[in-house]
Amino acid sequence: MFAKSLFLVLIGLLSLVAAIPAFYSLGDAVSADANDRLIFCHFMIGITGNRNSATDYDDDMKRAKSLGIDAFALNIGVDPYTDTQLNFAYESAANNDMKVFLSFDFNWWHINQASEIGQKIKQYASRPAQLKVDNKIFVSSFAGDGIDVSQMKSGAGQDIFFVPNFHPGQGNFNDIQGALNWMAWPNDGNNKAPTSGNNITVADGDNAYMAALKGKPYLAPASAWFSTHFGSEVSYSKNWVFPSDLLWYTRWNELLALGPRFIEIVTWNDYGESHYIGPLSSPHTDDGSSKWVMDMPHEGWLEMSKPFISAYKAGKDSPDNFIDEEKIIYWYRPTPRDLDCDATDTTMAGNANNASGNFFRGRPNGWESMADEVFVVSLLKSPGTIQVTSGKNSKSFDAKAGAQAFTVPMGVGQQKFALSRDGKEVMSDTSLKDIVNKCICGIYNFNAYVGTVPVAKTIDKLGADGIARLHEGLRAPCAENTLGRHMPTATGV
Ligand SMILES: *[C@@H]1O[C@H](CO)[C@@H](O)[C@H](O)[C@H]1NC(C)=O
Ligand SMILES: *[C@@H]1O[C@H](CO)[C@@H](O)[C@H](O)[C@H]1NC(C)=O
Repeated sequence: MFAKSLFLVLIGLLSLVAAIPAFYSLGDAVSADANDRLIFCHFMIGITGNRNSATDYDDDMKRAKSLGIDAFALNIGVDPYTDTQLNFAYESAANNDMKVFLSFDFNWWHINQASEIGQKIKQYASRPAQLKVDNKIFVSSFAGDGIDVSQMKSGAGQDIFFVPNFHPGQGNFNDIQGALNWMAWPNDGNNKAPTSGNNITVADGDNAYMAALKGKPYLAPASAWFSTHFGSEVSYSKNWVFPSDLLWYTRWNELLALGPRFIEIVTWNDYGESHYIGPLSSPHTDDGSSKWVMDMPHEGWLEMSKPFISAYKAGKDSPDNFIDEEKIIYWYRPTPRDLDCDATDTTMAGNANNASGNFFRGRPNGWESMADEVFVVSLLKSPGTIQVTSGKNSKSFDAKAGAQAFTVPMGVGQQKFALSRDGKEVMSDTSLKDIVNKCICGIYNFNAYVGTVPVAKTIDKLGADGIARLHEGLRAPCAENTLGRHMPTATGV
């Protein structure tokens, strides 16, 4: 999703952040009336060209709806299958009482295509599943500063509620109804991990956007993770991380305090950048990301967000009264960050294209910003003791009723999690994924494994299309879909 042009855009954002007077207060003025609040999730149509009918979207629609998500932001480029898939998605959304809207990706669309974009909006505007806000067609984007909004509206033949990913200091904020901030991760203002000199928090981004919006609705981002590791085996080589660690928990708390009109979860199914919260089994094609996505389910993040989404919709600043099922959610990277995989890593071989400036060899750029820890969030109805064992490291915590986060230093070996009360175990489980001191499939994998106690009923796995390019560029043996393979025979596996 990251174009080279974002460099300039982010420099603009950085200077704007610096320009915000210290006394600028966000106050209550930006906090939206609970009744108006909507939550979206970014959905990549670019990797779902393998779907054959509207029913192929039903599981995504049902899951998102049950979580409290109001609409999918359907990210579209200009792939030949785009309309086929949009038709399926709009139909499935209608069948499942969900909403959807178009999000134009300006990595592929050009700002001089305003009329054409307007016509694309018109093509779907009257579909029953189209999201409307204030009775207008809701439309968003990735990038797009400088598009002629009135020309786009005349192409659409009607008024629209336009909430693009314009950037403060770049796009004209007078022309729009609201704006999406994409930068859901702490960064350096130049699309990489923060440095001590250039350290921009997600909240800095919130402030810059709200200052530029002057009270217009803000579409605030929430993301759990960022790690990408494409080498010369693809033309879009890129290899970096943003600090993620406990971000999914801290950001949700930040958003409940902020109370923006709209929130967008980034993302449902962008496997390449590791910020998917949707299942691995959600049908998609492999862009080469299966190397770090295989055996790395994220559904626990989806479950963690549930009480936060309910609290946001109710206008509350705490998820504590919205926990209907007790759970422990945990996540960690599968290997310690110092592990040396240079001899076999995909990014060490060949001549990768670095026109984007996003390609680095070896450990992903920004790797030092990720901590060797196991991250744990407890969702409890009454206080309890959480016991975590990570390899040789063991710690126990007094957890309050409600949501709370803990960290334990990462230990190589098995990962165990338990809840007890009055000395009696209430629930416990051993993760299906050990932390290991070897290079899995030969590569540096800075994606996260996410698990839950109680454990999910089925093991979430990539389908055949989602794993099709696993071996491309690999320089070490790599077994497919290994999760749970070594479970005791008693489980029937
Ligand atoms: C950036 O700032 C945060 C606190 O706002 C701090 O925790 C982090 O260590 C800083 N990062 C760097 C690289 O200095
Ligand atoms: C790719 O470009 C970026 C930005 O210029 C640079 O920092 C990085 O070192 C380059 N990567 C390689 C492998 O040369």
